[in-house]
Amino acid sequence: MAMNIPSRRFDTLIIGAGGGGLRAALQLSSADAHVAVVSKVFPTRSHTVAAQGGVNAALANVRPDNWHWHMFDTVKGSDYLGDQDAIEYMCRAAPQAVYELEHFGVPFSRLDDGRIYQRQFGGQSMNFGGEQAARTCAAADRTGHAILQSLYQQNIRAKTHFFDEYFAVDLVRDAEGCLLGALVMEIASGELLLIEAKTTLLATGGAGQLFRTNTNALINTGDGMAMALRAGIPLQDMEFFQFHPTGIAGKGMLITEGARGEGGYLVNAEGERFMERYAPHAKDLASRDVVSRAIATEVREGRGCGEHKDHVLLKLDHLGAATVHKRLPGICDMVGTFLGTDPAVTPIPVAPTAHYTMGGIPTNRFGQVIIPEQQGPEEPVPGLYAAGECACVSVHGANRLGGNSLLDILVFGRAAANHIVDYLKENRYHRPLPEDAVDQGLARLARWEQKGEGESVDALRSELARVMEANCGVFRTREVLSDGLDKVSALAVRMADVRLRDHSAVFNTARIEAMELENLMDVALATVASALQREESRGAHSRIDYPERDDVHWLKHSLYHHETRTVDHKPVRTKPITVSSFPPKERVY
Ligand code: FUM
Repeated sequence: MAMNIPSRRFDTLIIGAGGGGLRAALQLSSADAHVAVVSKVFPTRSHTVAAQGGVNAALANVRPDNWHWHMFDTVKGSDYLGDQDAIEYMCRAAPQAVYELEHFGVPFSRLDDGRIYQRQFGGQSMNFGGEQAARTCAAADRTGHAILQSLYQQNIRAKTHFFDEYFAVDLVRDAEGCLLGALVMEIASGELLLIEAKTTLLATGGAGQLFRTNTNALINTGDGMAMALRAGIPLQDMEFFQFHPTGIAGKGMLITEGARGEGGYLVNAEGERFMERYAPHAKDLASRDVVSRAIATEVREGRGCGEHKDHVLLKLDHLGAATVHKRLPGICDMVGTFLGTDPAVTPIPVAPTAHYTMGGIPTNRFGQVIIPEQQGPEEPVPGLYAAGECACVSVHGANRLGGNSLLDILVFGRAAANHIVDYLKENRYHRPLPEDAVDQGLARLARWEQKGEGESVDALRSELARVMEANCGVFRTREVLSDGLDKVSALAVRMADVRLRDHSAVFNTARIEAMELENLMDVALATVASALQREESRGAHSRIDYPERDDVHWLKHSLYHHETRTVDHKPVRTKPITVSSFPPKERVY
């Protein structure tokens, strides 16, 4: 069946052209590997472009700092669910990752003496929980944009081969489960292409489109996670979804934590700086789960602002127009466009908004996708890697610190590439392609050749996002989650008869919208089922019916299996590489 589909051969196929994919591609192309990057959008439109506040690295340019303090903050921020070997690796690698970017041409904001400017971000401390640190390296509030442009240009120079605006339909494997590449579709023409590769790296980003109000691009539909599920790989820790405290109220667009890092603060309808009550030490720069819960609590208890009392205000006016306009120009533009106000004058209405998928495809710190075993050692899936938001390595555990996502994609994109270079030395030939290699992908496409008779893809996608927002939000209970699971399961059944966009012929874009929704459905099921089974509160997973963290029963990762729709567990890697563990402690800010 595969025989009449054109094919191309590469050493490595990278699916996704955000910062993780591009950092890996650059490392590989520079090592003379033959690399293909497949992206469903033009690479510089990938969601990394939207990252605002910056990337963490203990450079100590503004205040004293070192990687060990950064590690402590990340472990504590993760509510002790992060794997400490991976966290140590990431924090130690951070300064080099930033200096590399500087050399690639990223125009970081500067201090007067020319060194890289670093701003304060949430959950950062000096000296293992002491005073506020300043660790986040920024290019004003357009850091992701600057990084993505630089990495793309460097890849062009390194001769990475790009397949722009190609959609990855499905992974291709052999009977032993070895990865052989992917079946992809050119969006404009609908032409199929089989990309055969000795190694495949998933770098497809997160699934923020699960929720109605979110900071994410429309393209963030969990494609890589769903591909992994269809390949029989479980997803890890999907119950931990980050709600960023400051999205524009009712709309969701991100207002960077850098706004609070520059000295902004939140007030309720009574004009009270309420974070002083919830986090007396760190106040507005407590970690994100803490601040989001505080805002949600103020609103629930009737101290929200506006006609519907459904948001709080972010005040920046006391900082002075010069600082606000210099440090936060993108925020000023966005608020001007969407609210018609100047944040240097008028406080911004904000509310928690879905932002980041902490869970994902389980990997080790070399980016290898691992199938965790209940008994015995974890086994890598031969030839398959994942990095960035689609992966769960796990450096973020139950709650990610702001500024650690750009760091994650840079460090683990590079680490995965380095491992791939070694793998390619040992695995020099393409494995034979079985006759039925693309059958699963073709069957998937065939499902979307007809229009269907049911509701439209758009309507079903909106309903899914509404259900997720209502049933799997900041605060959760068993009742609400099990209702959510029933509702998402029912939507997944309705998916089978969904009606594609109404044209005389079925356009490729309509088929892709359907496949994206199919991906979202699978990831939604993973998210709600994982949230339902975790009967404790940890990090971003806050159960009103189980308000305490329970280290005795729940200091473990969840693994959701698609085939059986069940969840099991694996241990947290509490042992770092060279230093002592940070044991779980009460988490106060
Ligand atoms: O608030 C922000 O600028 C977001 C940063 C992050 O999610 O790391």
